[in-house]
Amino acid sequence: MPSKIRWGILGAGNIAHSFAKGLLSLPDAGVQSVASRTPDKLETFAAEYGIPVRHASYEALASDPSVDVVYIAVPHSSHYDMIRLCLEHGKHVVCEKPMTYCALRTREAAALARNRKLFLMEAMWTRFFPLMQEVRIRIARGEIGEIRMIQADFGFRADIHPEGRLFDPNLAGGSLLDVGVYPISLFHMLLGKPRQITGFAAMGGTGVDEQAAWVFRYDGGQLAIGSSAVRTSTPHEALIAGTEGSIHIASPWWKPTRMTLRHPGKPDATVEHPLESTGMQYEAAAAMECIRNHRIECPVIPLDESIAIAESMDELRRQWGFVYPMEH
Ligand SMILES: NC(=O)c1ccc[n+]([C@@H]2O[C@H](COP(=O)([O-])OP(=O)(O)OC[C@H]3O[C@@H](n4cnc5c(N)ncnc54)[C@H](OP(=O)(O)O)[C@@H]3O)[C@@H](O)[C@H]2O)c1
Repeated sequence: MPSKIRWGILGAGNIAHSFAKGLLSLPDAGVQSVASRTPDKLETFAAEYGIPVRHASYEALASDPSVDVVYIAVPHSSHYDMIRLCLEHGKHVVCEKPMTYCALRTREAAALARNRKLFLMEAMWTRFFPLMQEVRIRIARGEIGEIRMIQADFGFRADIHPEGRLFDPNLAGGSLLDVGVYPISLFHMLLGKPRQITGFAAMGGTGVDEQAAWVFRYDGGQLAIGSSAVRTSTPHEALIAGTEGSIHIASPWWKPTRMTLRHPGKPDATVEHPLESTGMQYEAAAAMECIRNHRIECPVIPLDESIAIAESMDELRRQWGFVYPMEH
């Protein structure tokens, strides 16, 4: 492994910018190459981050021998194909959330990575924020007792663009996969696999869920209640309530820096963790540490957990009768 791990960026869209900027803050990361099907975007992106190698196709990036690990930042519908393309060319992979649009494909992607002994990770960046690491430590120490209930939401109001990735079923659009995956990932991180899931969705004119709400029930009676929306703004909060106290996080999915700990009869305690650069470098650093140590999955978000998260989202879509065109 070279002293700098060499990244390739597949797709030059919105979030790829944040990721590239975050990588520049890591001294042991090199932004080696970028691929975009759009010539203007390719040039602008490469110039902005000083990227030496430019590819006009994703296939060319996957077969670029100067790349160690590929970050995939394309619409959900293409994640599986791109993961496969990169793994088959011997590249380690960090893929934007959700890892794929369904559990079947996520299982296949995980099996391929394991078979090829290559690193694969779902880029659930929220799990890597310093504040979220602190949340895990405090819960493990028993500071709020046993978790009994979680409430979390992620909803924003976007304009309807039928061909955009949020609203087009052909791009695996909809609120559940785009933003619901964040609260659902939090539920899985803190409570594991649910015993039962139930939920409702409001389907919009383009054929995707514009908003949805769900309840997860666990063996010990714990409940996790969440919602997602792409046409309705909601507060963006997470409340983790335990037998001894609770943790409240404002804006948990977008660069959180502060949590409030509440214990009955005591004043609220605020814990702050500043966040550097774009915040995307934390997940990149964790991936690089795994790669350097020859690990093929990241303990913060193991492959079986990405599969379980996909199974939960599949179950909700099954209840709603919501099937993506590529699943037919
Ligand atoms: N972690 C986060 O906070 C976060 C935030 C936003 C999005 N995301 C995830 O990041 C991924 C990309 O989202 P984004 O907001 O960056 O999207 P975006 O701005 O629309 O960019 C997506 C890129 O995908 C490429 N692409 C390939 N096939 C495409 C197709 N059929 N239609 C449209 N674009 C296609 C395009 O790249 P080229 O033209 O350059 O080839 C485009 O620039 C999604 O998985 C999303 O869930 C994560």
